[in-house]
Amino acid sequence: MRAVHLDAHDFRNLRRLALDLPAEGAVFFGDNGHGKTSLLEAMYYPVLLRSVRGARDGDLVRRGEAGFFVRLVVASATGATTIEAGFGHGSGGVGRQKRVAVDGAPLERLTDALGAWIAVAFLPSDVELVSGGAAIRRQFLDRMLCLADGEYLRALRRYRAALDQRNAALRQGQPAAAWAFDPLLAKYGAMLVARRQDWVSRSRGPWAETCSALGEPMPVFFELTGDGSLGDPAAWPDALGAARVRDQQHRVTGLGPHRDDLSLTLDRAPLRVIGSTGQQRTAAIALKLCERDTLAQAAGQAPALLLDDVFAELDRDRQDRLAHRLGLGPDSGQPVRPQVFVTAPRADELPPLLDLPVYRVEHGAVSPAGLGAISR
Ligand SMILES: Nc1ncnc2c1ncn2[C@@H]1O[C@H](COP(=O)(O)OP(=O)(O)OP(=O)(O)O)[C@@H](O)[C@H]1O
Ligand SMILES: [Mg+2]
Repeated sequence: MRAVHLDAHDFRNLRRLALDLPAEGAVFFGDNGHGKTSLLEAMYYPVLLRSVRGARDGDLVRRGEAGFFVRLVVASATGATTIEAGFGHGSGGVGRQKRVAVDGAPLERLTDALGAWIAVAFLPSDVELVSGGAAIRRQFLDRMLCLADGEYLRALRRYRAALDQRNAALRQGQPAAAWAFDPLLAKYGAMLVARRQDWVSRSRGPWAETCSALGEPMPVFFELTGDGSLGDPAAWPDALGAARVRDQQHRVTGLGPHRDDLSLTLDRAPLRVIGSTGQQRTAAIALKLCERDTLAQAAGQAPALLLDDVFAELDRDRQDRLAHRLGLGPDSGQPVRPQVFVTAPRADELPPLLDLPVYRVEHGAVSPAGLGAISR
């Protein structure tokens, strides 16, 4: 699966971008604040139909404009697909709406577009996967597993709907109405717990091995917190029953996968607390590589890689190790070299292994860097 063309209109500082994308990917370099991250954000938008930076759609609209539009054409073994997403004023200028179409057909449910374009984005803020709170890691697990597995997506949607209604009933002091949602929580919650557990047990070894391959040989380990027995729906009635008094007092559901964490440890101590900055960054990049592998396995093809300023933070040895691990080296072990888009302030700071066409990003416009514009 490769992106072949991107149009972005009034998306952050990209006013009117029309860009053919090379099959192997590209390097985008340019000074701070000229639009490199915005470009990757536009390219990633069709993956989740939301900002990879976590921004609201309204904040993506170029200041002073009414809405934005992104179109990505993707080529795969089965042909070309066009994904279009627009956000802006609704009919009659009332309200804001998001509209999504695949191959020209408008979608009623946004999630129907998931899977049409798969990419993994590596951002400087990914270090928060290690240094940040539990919600960030839950979101990482949920997004990845939703993209990899339609059943997980459906279960998550239903679990959240049941949880919202249960919590609303608890807030209103109506416990009997709240307990009515317990069977739904059990059914869908158990599926979420079981699939997360399955991912954790499959990915734990590769994650530690990747940390080591990236230049940080450290005794790392991850596991899900929370009651592991809840992977079985039969365990839920007793667990929810035992928590009823507390749930009623706190007026919120205190048990279930919405409270779990992916606990990351180094020598049995929280990596968040004792890991150096470099160790935390490496551990986060290794988690994203696990995401890459999970999505590749689910889709049967390699996702594109969007790397924002990732190499700039690494020394040359670690740059080479990462490039190799990303499948960019000659003997990287990856069957097909992935399509990879990389941003950097200066192209000559990138590892020579990358060897990609180079573009310059200036004031929201993207142009091929002329011969001699840089020497790498
Ligand atoms: N909604 C918006 N409308 C217009 N401009 C915006 C909007 N959101 C962000 N910008 C501006 O777009 C510009 C490009 O931001 P971006 O984060 O893409 O820069 P960058 O090239 O990645 O910079 P850096 O090297 O510092 O990471 C910035 O000047 C930013 O202030
Ligand atoms: Mg940036």
